[in-house]
Amino acid sequence: MTTSAHEAGNRAFWEQAAATHGTHAGDRYYDLAKVVAGGTLMTLHEEGALAAATGAPADDPLSRLGGLSVLHLQSHIGVDGVVMARAGARVTCADWSPTALRRAQELAAQVGVRIETVECDARDLPAALHGRFDLVYVTIGAICWIDDLDRWMRQVAAVLRPGGVLVLVELHPLLQMLEARVPEIVMDLPYGGGAAGTWEGSGTYADPDAPVQSSTTCYAHSLGEIVTGAVSAGMRVDRLVEHDALDFDPRGDDLVTRDEDGRLRLRLGRGREEGSRGEPLPVAFTLLATRA
Ligand SMILES: C[S@@+](CC[C@H](N)C(=O)[O-])C[C@H]1O[C@@H](n2cnc3c(N)ncnc32)[C@H](O)[C@@H]1O
Repeated sequence: MTTSAHEAGNRAFWEQAAATHGTHAGDRYYDLAKVVAGGTLMTLHEEGALAAATGAPADDPLSRLGGLSVLHLQSHIGVDGVVMARAGARVTCADWSPTALRRAQELAAQVGVRIETVECDARDLPAALHGRFDLVYVTIGAICWIDDLDRWMRQVAAVLRPGGVLVLVELHPLLQMLEARVPEIVMDLPYGGGAAGTWEGSGTYADPDAPVQSSTTCYAHSLGEIVTGAVSAGMRVDRLVEHDALDFDPRGDDLVTRDEDGRLRLRLGRGREEGSRGEPLPVAFTLLATRA
């Protein structure tokens, strides 16, 4: 399959996913009623990253967003962008899916906030966005769709104002490598190098029964490539934290299992003691990087 066929498959998947997410009872992730009622779907890692980037207290992570100009990049149906707008930020949602952006505007109207939407490729952000943003917020399930991560990082740096911060919360490349752990461990994507993997499937990560047929291609980026990409694009890395727990199952395929504390961890094999569980592997990371 050619690169443009990969891209066409990915775009078609995201158009379908954007049309269906938050519309079915079977959707385990996009609880839009909760957002309209004043809640948020942000994970602890996303809230923690925003608190760290803005200097907000951990127990009130969105309290310092007022007046900030935020680009929610690869915003999908705009849930976090709408929540940040409600917290006082001037939010622009950017995605290549027109359906996703239409859904984001519908959600903003329901919540009673204004957002700007820009339909564009994240690898080629419009000049009108350059130098405008205090924060570029990108979270879980975004960079695996990007074939040329260095170019993507240069676009992020270009749209930040000097001193502006990239807030990137993503799945760990180690988790991306893993396809299954039962009945045997299957690792079918390299750790990095921009390697591509293509999958045929149905449903989505949020709604496995959604009427969506897809052929999608994801790209592997190692942690070293991500950090080096940010630095090469002219950003200073302020924080890189690897997380060994999640508060939701990102792929809906039970690779991660729930511990007694309610959080989900990736445990393979066993620990030192016979019958003990293996130590958790990293499953996500937070990168904060400032445009110099
Ligand atoms: C998994 S979603 C992001 C989910 C988001 N964190 C959330 O909670 O809803 C990934 C998004 O990236 C978008 N996307 C993928 N490749 C893109 C590209 N090259 N340019 C712009 N958007 C892209 C898709 O349309 C999709 O909306």
